[in-house]
Amino acid sequence: MILVTGSTGNVGREVVRELHARGAQFKCLVRNPDKAAVLEGAGVATVTADMDDPASLEPALAGIETLFLLAAPSSRLMLQELNTVLAAKRAGVRRLVKISVILADRASAATFMRDHGRVEHAIESAGIPATFIRPTGFMQNLAPSFGGAVANGYPIYAPAGDARVSWVDLRDVAAVAATVLTQDGHEQRVYELTGGEAFSYADIAALLSGLLGRKVEYGNVTDAAAEQAFRGVGADPWLAHALVSLYQSYRQGHFAAVNGNIERLTGQPPRTLDAYLRENLQAFAAR
Ligand SMILES: NC(=O)c1ccc[n+]([C@@H]2O[C@H](COP(=O)([O-])OP(=O)(O)OC[C@H]3O[C@@H](n4cnc5c(N)ncnc54)[C@H](OP(=O)(O)O)[C@@H]3O)[C@@H](O)[C@H]2O)c1
Repeated sequence: MILVTGSTGNVGREVVRELHARGAQFKCLVRNPDKAAVLEGAGVATVTADMDDPASLEPALAGIETLFLLAAPSSRLMLQELNTVLAAKRAGVRRLVKISVILADRASAATFMRDHGRVEHAIESAGIPATFIRPTGFMQNLAPSFGGAVANGYPIYAPAGDARVSWVDLRDVAAVAATVLTQDGHEQRVYELTGGEAFSYADIAALLSGLLGRKVEYGNVTDAAAEQAFRGVGADPWLAHALVSLYQSYRQGHFAAVNGNIERLTGQPPRTLDAYLRENLQAFAAR
């Protein structure tokens, strides 16, 4: 039996869809009873637990062989995932598949990479055979981050300089996760997942210009201005700082590499940025 955490989020929803389509035996750990009811209504088994509450995790993990581990990008990610890893160890979970991030490293200066690296290290120390799935940036970040600005005729503002990112479609990340969860032989592996091509923010603006038939500009901003802007749209200080440190990694070229892991693991080439932008063009179009 597989237990899926994060099943009501962006990646987890797609993992659930993939596992369901493959006829896999799985259930979802859900903290919100209303969301659990929706899943149950769609024929998906659930168990209620909260990754912030270790006591709730013990019964949720009983009888589980394989754990899909995902927590939201927040200051609580490390603690929530560590709680779940400890409960998994106690429950005798035999295999773990974790959504991490490219270049996860517990010594990284970038917050997301450091926190994921620390959790990966804890999983290794716990001795649970694991697969670490390390994607680059999700294409699905782009419409929520920049759709409103572009629709209103503003440039795409970001502290990205001329950094290139090999954007990945999170549906491809979920397809890899489902493959790894349902096949043997992926233990003790790290899969860095990238799109097929790396694009700068100026490239994204040019692609949007072509698709929308009007000029879309990219405007580089300082880290300080970006941090203030993230705070302005509701990010807490931890998240605002984490996002700025992510852009610093982009500028160091850490997200530009391209590899063939998605095609090798799923048999399908990675979805393209052009296809994502076409599919979501309405989010960028004038209203
Ligand atoms: N965005 C990127 O570009 C990118 C790139 C590489 C890696 N990643 C990694 O991918 C992950 C984010 O995936 P995502 O976008 O799918 O996240 P998401 O949409 O924020 O989903 C988070 C999930 O975690 C659940 N959750 C939150 N707190 C919980 C708790 N206390 N107990 C139990 N469940 C809880 C949420 O449930 P509710 O529905 O109840 O809130 C939801 O199902 C992060 O680890 C991030 O670092 C992201």
